[in-house]
Amino acid sequence: MVIGNDSLGYPIFVCENAEQPLRSFVRGRGMRCIVLADAQPAVLARARALAVRLPRCLGVLPIVLGEPRKRLARIEEIADALIAAGADRSTLILGVGGGVANDTFGLAAALFMRGVPYAHVATSLLAMLDASIGGKVGVDTSAGKNLVGRFSDPMAVFADLHALRTLPFREIRAGLAEAVKHAILAGGESFESLELLAPHRFERWPWAEIVARSVAIKAAVVRADREERGLRATLNLGHTFAHAYESASGYRIAHGAAVALGLRAAGLLALRGGRFSRAEHLRVLALLALLGMPLSTRVPAEAAFAAMRGDKKRRDGALRFVLPDAIGLVRADVRVPDARVRSVLRAMEAPPGDAER
Ligand SMILES: NC(=O)c1ccc[n+]([C@@H]2O[C@H](COP(=O)([O-])OP(=O)(O)OC[C@H]3O[C@@H](n4cnc5c(N)ncnc54)[C@H](O)[C@@H]3O)[C@@H](O)[C@H]2O)c1
Ligand SMILES: [Zn+2]
Repeated sequence: MVIGNDSLGYPIFVCENAEQPLRSFVRGRGMRCIVLADAQPAVLARARALAVRLPRCLGVLPIVLGEPRKRLARIEEIADALIAAGADRSTLILGVGGGVANDTFGLAAALFMRGVPYAHVATSLLAMLDASIGGKVGVDTSAGKNLVGRFSDPMAVFADLHALRTLPFREIRAGLAEAVKHAILAGGESFESLELLAPHRFERWPWAEIVARSVAIKAAVVRADREERGLRATLNLGHTFAHAYESASGYRIAHGAAVALGLRAAGLLALRGGRFSRAEHLRVLALLALLGMPLSTRVPAEAAFAAMRGDKKRRDGALRFVLPDAIGLVRADVRVPDARVRSVLRAMEAPPGDAER
């Protein structure tokens, strides 16, 4: 299945096995290529398997990644490794890995020799349906996440569903939290299809369909607002809360779990602001619960609020949020009084109660 050509200007291949489409793509470019792979053993093994039959491939370079290593130092390490392996301006770089690989390798390709062609093979669910779509690449600094980067489109993206076989459950859940977020943005069938699948075991899920649907939602938003002047900000639904919970818990709460908490909190904030119906809020909570996502947290409200106050979305004294008006209608930049935010954070310390029912 190929998506994105029309909306983003580059193809996104959603495939059970990326081997054949990747080979045709590389052959079609008529260039030498080199593979950069997340050194995580399962990802590296997959990268090697994919590289075996690629035409004119200079080899596979394992790079040790992980969020704490998503730093500028990786760019220099990668550039040195590329030179040592004989890559030059006319070498196509293929990155293999999750979202960290996408952001790091994509930035390295954008900077190496002032920019060389890049394609990403996504191996985590989150990279398939979120990180590899939209051309944002970058690294973290000690001051925060993704602070150094740029917009740089790949030549193609391959969602290699085969790789999901080795992806830990916790990482599947991280990707699913973003899929729920996309489904709230799009509403309609996108949301209903997740509701229908949620009670079934993941092994039975039609991943191609789920990834393709989510990719199409993100691609449509990115197409309308690539540089994030307005609409693209709606992709941050739940994320102001999520970042606060991640940081206030000392990153013990994983991103996917934090996004699930953020989606409940955003829904409750919208409900209390009189703009989101109780029935729709309950639908979101029911879906998150069926997917095994957490709905409450032990992070004290005041700790989460303190973390949020440092968030860059705070302007002229009030916090701003991306909030749902309805499933299928989400608005960015909604100003909310501190007292209401704090009361929602207090409610988040317990499971959804009568006030939410
Ligand atoms: N550029 C964007 O628009 C965008 C959007 C969302 C998130 N991101 C970034 O994406 C990153 C998170 O992505 P992620 O969750 O994929 O993180 P990740 O790349 O660190 O992958 C998560 C873990 O799964 C492992 N892994 C990946 N594929 C695997 C596989 N097939 N089998 C076994 N293990 C596998 C990785 O080694 C890692 O340990 C963050 O840095 C975030 O900032 C970027
Ligand atoms: Zn996210």
